[in-house]
Amino acid sequence: MGLEIKSFEIFCGTGGVGKTTLATSRALNLSQMGKRVLLITIDPAKRLKDLLGLKGEHVGDVTSVELQGLKLDALLMSPEKTIQRMARQYNTPDLASNRIVQILSRPYGGMNEILSLVEVQMQFETGKYDVVVLDTPPGAHFLDFLEGVGKIRSFFNQNFVEIFSYLSQKTASAGKKVFGFGLINKIVSSGVRKLLGYLQNVTGAEFIDDFIQAIHIIYQSREAFMKGLALQDKLKSRTECNWFLVTSVEQGKAQEAVEMKSHASEFIHQDHYLVLNKCLEQELRGWSPSDESLNNVKKSLEGKEISLKQQLRGLFPEVLEFPEVISLSPTDHIQHLTEKWKSYVV
Ligand SMILES: Nc1ncnc2c1ncn2[C@@H]1O[C@H](COP(=O)(O)OP(=O)(O)O)[C@@H](O)[C@H]1O
Ligand SMILES: [Mg+2]
Repeated sequence: MGLEIKSFEIFCGTGGVGKTTLATSRALNLSQMGKRVLLITIDPAKRLKDLLGLKGEHVGDVTSVELQGLKLDALLMSPEKTIQRMARQYNTPDLASNRIVQILSRPYGGMNEILSLVEVQMQFETGKYDVVVLDTPPGAHFLDFLEGVGKIRSFFNQNFVEIFSYLSQKTASAGKKVFGFGLINKIVSSGVRKLLGYLQNVTGAEFIDDFIQAIHIIYQSREAFMKGLALQDKLKSRTECNWFLVTSVEQGKAQEAVEMKSHASEFIHQDHYLVLNKCLEQELRGWSPSDESLNNVKKSLEGKEISLKQQLRGLFPEVLEFPEVISLSPTDHIQHLTEKWKSYVV
């Protein structure tokens, strides 16, 4: 089995299974092969920051790092910085200054996933990279989002068109701008109006004006958003993207991987990889304890791991195994796993 090199590689899975460590080691592995690699993490835990020795001022900007003698570009996603880059690149300065957009692009603000796609797309478009490796946030958020892409697309295609044709009719008949409560009252439900009123009270600002401006700006910036959304088609394509569903050899984690697969099957292509991290079998094989109870521990661990692997091999098209690195140092983990990737490369 050989791992082909494609333009995009995505690592997803639940927390603590080793996504960040594996994504980093894979990026190093690709870099060793002479590929120009950008490693992007959207993990809010920012572990990559510590691993790569990045400082606060580097967050959100592509930074060149050196790890194990290899040069690598890395980017810790910052939605705010992405918005600023979009504003510059698409000449829509209001995008970066609008307060509603600022709120939406905070961590967990609701726009993080779409902004990650926009960012990946903008970086790939620079032509500087052969491969973009993406380390996603824990859990199914990223997958959930990809499923919701269709909705966002129709939002841009339909709802916006409706809102704007309404706006232009109104503007034409009034002969002037008519943005304000009157208009909003007509186009939003009373529930939303209540919410807006509430937000206006708590923000103590001209919230509604900002809101309307935000809709305008987002619409003006739709090209960037649409390109980000279009990236999803590339990610779905087996010739352009490698998907790694990461799990570790622990009770419960395999079940999560199976759930993730059924969740993902609608939008990722069929030849994805299950990455089984922290395998102990190899270590255990070289261990022959004379103590009987220790020997029982060994057998039990081996037995569990073997049956887990059998189970998973039947469920996933390809399973890549990575050993538990017996060390407390994350740098050691990365170094060993980088070596291990070599055995999977064609
Ligand atoms: N194969 C491995 N062997 C030993 N420790 C590992 C291995 N893979 C990851 N780790 C360690 O496990 C912890 C969680 O890894 P991390 O990559 O941050 O997981 P995630 O990004 O999925 O939350 C880190 O301390 C990391 O160094
Ligand atoms: Mg992580």
